[in-house]
Amino acid sequence: MKAAIYDGPRTVTVKDVPDARIEHPCDILVKITTTNICGSDLHMYEGRSSFETGRTLGHENLGQVVEVGPAVSKVAVGDWVVMPFNIACGFCKQCERGLTSYCLTMQPKPAMAGAAYGFAEMGPYQGGQAELLRVPYGDFNALRLGEDAAERQLDYVMLADIFPTGYHATEMANVKPGDQTLVYGAGPVGLMAVYSAIIRGAGRVWVADHRRDRLQVAEDLGAIAIDTAEQDVAEVVKDATLGLGADNGCECVGYQAHDPQGQEDASLTLNGLIEAVRFCGDIGVVGVFLPEDPGGAEAQGELEAKGKIPIDFGMMWFKGQRMGTGQAPVKRYNRALRDLIAAGRAEPSFVVSHELGLDQAPEAYEHFDARDEGWIKVALHPDGHG
Ligand SMILES: NC(=O)c1ccc[n+]([C@@H]2O[C@H](COP(=O)([O-])OP(=O)(O)OC[C@H]3O[C@@H](n4cnc5c(N)ncnc54)[C@H](O)[C@@H]3O)[C@@H](O)[C@H]2O)c1
Ligand SMILES: [Zn+2]
Ligand SMILES: [Zn+2]
Repeated sequence: MKAAIYDGPRTVTVKDVPDARIEHPCDILVKITTTNICGSDLHMYEGRSSFETGRTLGHENLGQVVEVGPAVSKVAVGDWVVMPFNIACGFCKQCERGLTSYCLTMQPKPAMAGAAYGFAEMGPYQGGQAELLRVPYGDFNALRLGEDAAERQLDYVMLADIFPTGYHATEMANVKPGDQTLVYGAGPVGLMAVYSAIIRGAGRVWVADHRRDRLQVAEDLGAIAIDTAEQDVAEVVKDATLGLGADNGCECVGYQAHDPQGQEDASLTLNGLIEAVRFCGDIGVVGVFLPEDPGGAEAQGELEAKGKIPIDFGMMWFKGQRMGTGQAPVKRYNRALRDLIAAGRAEPSFVVSHELGLDQAPEAYEHFDARDEGWIKVALHPDGHG
């Protein structure tokens, strides 16, 4: 089968590799028809993670089941399914609590938790930017879709990651009806946090970024754009809230946060939120931060390369803020969000700017990584249908 392989920093090659196959009685095999490129893939693509060369990328996967293992009882051949990017067992201590993003069974290192497709430090699993994907514990990990799945793949594929992840940011930030919410980052995840905040009834949503094309998409959703190249985020938010600040904040940028000139500083967004969110407000951090960033020393400093980020903890404590962090437990939300899509109440496909074949993955990575104008979210179709 063909697959998009990580061949070293800023190199993705589409190659023939051995077909994915059933390896365990609970596995299912999925023919991938839509698979997105994610901002998380870019941390790996840029060599800013421990991701091994020769591995297949891709954790936002949707397709049709072509084979099921002998112990699979619910999912059947022919079903349309979308997989959370997390791979989880469903029966460990963490999964029982709904923390499928920190599954203990699927992560091979005993002192660690969490697994994902084609992801650094998240187990040996191959990604779905390929013609076929092996899905462990298929009954648990595949969410079945309705009859409209084939036509609405671009909506439903967002259930693999960014729609539930954006929603999770608003959940950790405790966004309630009428709230005034600040989102850092107008990338695909930030846009989904904006969308989720609006779905949850937020009264006003600001989104801060320095990319005009992305801010425009957020404005089209009804958010207030803050262009960080021209405006001070805390000033805008405080001016509009009697100096108090936003009720809650979502971090959707991660450790490669930078100023509008491109200079990286991993503390920018966290400190921006601590400043602009009011006393006792909640902050949800879904942007990725890592304990090791091999490429980070040059961009930022030795401390940042070890994940030691200078945040204004004194101010955060003083303001009594709470901060939630980590990989999103997609399974906690994907069924409900699927039903919103099915009911016509949510159309997260608005974020897709490009639909390409798998063969075009190398160019797609290049453009998306450069954040070229208009390259907001890329969906790849390994079955060739664009
Ligand atoms: N927690 C999870 O489960 C989860 C899931 C998916 C993605 N993520 C992470 O979410 C983050 C965003 O993903 P994405 O796909 O939207 O990525 P992206 O890189 O396309 O978007 C990031 C956006 O942040 C903007 N930005 C950079 N520095 C900024 C700053 N200082 N202030 C304001 N905006 C700034 C960029 O211009 C860009 O538009 C990444 O770190 C990704 O790894 C986490
Ligand atoms: Zn993703
Ligand atoms: Zn588990």
